Amino acid sequence: MKVLGIETSCDETGVAIYDDQQGLIAQVLYSQIKLHAEYGGVVPELASRDHVRKLIPLVEEVLQQAGLKGSDLDGVAYTAGPGLMGALFVGAATGRSLAWSWDIPAVPVHHMEGHLLAPMLDEPKPEFPFVALLVSGGHTQLIEVKNIGEYTILGESVDDAAGEAFDKTAKLIGLPYPGGPELAKLAESGDVTRYKFPRPMCDRPGLDFSFSGLKTFARNTFIKECAELEKGSPELAQTRADIACAFQHAVVDTLAIKCKRALKQTGLNRLVVAGGVSANSELRRKLAEQAEKLGGEVFYPRPAYCTDNGAMIAYAGMQRLKAGQIADTQVICKPRWPL
Ligand code: KG4
Ligand code: ZN
Repeated sequence: MKVLGIETSCDETGVAIYDDQQGLIAQVLYSQIKLHAEYGGVVPELASRDHVRKLIPLVEEVLQQAGLKGSDLDGVAYTAGPGLMGALFVGAATGRSLAWSWDIPAVPVHHMEGHLLAPMLDEPKPEFPFVALLVSGGHTQLIEVKNIGEYTILGESVDDAAGEAFDKTAKLIGLPYPGGPELAKLAESGDVTRYKFPRPMCDRPGLDFSFSGLKTFARNTFIKECAELEKGSPELAQTRADIACAFQHAVVDTLAIKCKRALKQTGLNRLVVAGGVSANSELRRKLAEQAEKLGGEVFYPRPAYCTDNGAMIAYAGMQRLKAGQIADTQVICKPRWPL
């Protein structure tokens, strides 16, 4: 069985083909980073237009990579939500139309289920059940996963998602878009002992998160410490790195504390971490250290599958297709869609 996956929920156009016998057989990814960089964030209208431009040529490219025709496929999976309405609509309408023209089913996929299952694109796959920490630009959630489609949300962010907090904090301290990975890189040269940021919502029970206060804390520290420093001076550069480092540590510690709690609460010892922020090396280091102490296991997607991509949508679509969850002729788009 072969499924084409289409991802267009935000600023990446991702297309891939997953074969249930051979695994991933073709994939391409086009990032719109350059297009949005001058605006300091994703411009939804520009994102939609660029998906329109890129999607069909990318579909042709993956088919060529795999040596297949559209009619050799068994289904077309597309991200139906959550995400930017216009961007989603491009993938949904194109995916549904391709499926119709090839006379195969179309499968609407939840973007976060794509992230959640991304570690299964590689071996060893995590076995069910497990606790999942989904950390992306739009979501921060702890989920008890009993099986595919059996998800219980244990906790989530009450304000900014972890990736969003990384991006906004990066912007506040003057880093270019996309800020998350830039901030993480800068944090490597920071002194972790210089500033101590709070660990929000860790002093009370529960598994929810709140990251917007940390962003404000970073801004206030930046204003207070950097106001007198000369532009371009080594002191300013070091202070920014120290703030980035303190911020990253606070986010990572908070995530690790809540993961430990979720594992304890569910009695599970397998943790799956996915979504853009799961590429963060400090988070991986911390969770590995914690898992070793607790005698548990942690699984991640490979770095290329942490952020948005077509492979995870093809994989999740394959599972949904096998479960018979296809969409008649409707074009399904849900900008807001709980998992
Ligand atoms: O999963 P994703 O590609 O898109 C959403 O579904 O939101 O995640 C993107 C997010 C962005 O906020 C980005 O800054 C963050 O993931 N991110 C990182 C790192 N790489 C990507 N955050 C921290 N450290 C990183 N290395
Ligand atoms: Zn995503």
